[in-house]
Amino acid sequence: MDRRNQINIYEFLFMGLSERPEQQPLLVGLFLGMFLVTVLENLHIIPVIGSDMHLHTPRHIFLANLSFFDNRFISTVITQLLDNIGSGSKLISYGEGLIQLYFFGLFADLDNFLLAVMAPDCYVAISYPLHYAMTMNSQCCILLVDGSWVVTTLHALVHTLLVTRLSFCGPNIIPHFYCDFYCVPLLKLAFSSTYVHNLMFILVAGTLLIGPPVCILTSYFYIALAVQRIDSPKGKQRAFANCSSHLSVVSL
Ligand SMILES: *[C@@H]1O[C@H](CO)[C@@H](O)[C@H](O)[C@H]1NC(C)=O
Repeated sequence: MDRRNQINIYEFLFMGLSERPEQQPLLVGLFLGMFLVTVLENLHIIPVIGSDMHLHTPRHIFLANLSFFDNRFISTVITQLLDNIGSGSKLISYGEGLIQLYFFGLFADLDNFLLAVMAPDCYVAISYPLHYAMTMNSQCCILLVDGSWVVTTLHALVHTLLVTRLSFCGPNIIPHFYCDFYCVPLLKLAFSSTYVHNLMFILVAGTLLIGPPVCILTSYFYIALAVQRIDSPKGKQRAFANCSSHLSVVSL
């Protein structure tokens, strides 16, 4: 088809949470509840860590950052959903969709990266307790947090820019309730080829998505080995307590 004859679409329609209207209020209530619990919990963590000098350790700084990004992450999805429900319109403009896509990717990535960074931190704390303070100093923390920022910002930016290359001219109904990073439902609506997008997904996203879980699993493998070498049950318990906060966040 000639590109000039094509009508570009500037608005998308979300199908919402469920195709059955009677299920909508229940699902909305559930999501709103989860949203409020997460936000309140996270809002509680940051001042607690900030106000207690004893909690100014790398682990807690990472945890505070994680809470902060987690809040942003869930807000990008839920605010749009609630906005749609509040206004009674399921439309999202092309620009809004791109913004949501960018921030969704950015904060989801940051969450993963911070969880990954916290795992080797646990390992160092357990295996090399004497060197811990020297290795994980504030410069190292800043480097890890800022490094995560740089990588994830670039990643989100590249993906969002790739989506702007696509043209949409057919149906504009997205069978979903938000634009996620790879936005498979959105990509399916694209008129132009998504070849480059798919290639990027496999290359970059593959590494960035698989990297953090691999880092976490490897660290825990070595943590398990290190804990096994500890003789006293008390030492084992202390080692376990060291990574319990991280373990609980990862499993959540
Ligand atoms: C996140 O980490 C940076 C660098 O370590 C730190 O300066 C900042 O206070 C942290 N953010 C929060 C919300 O704790």
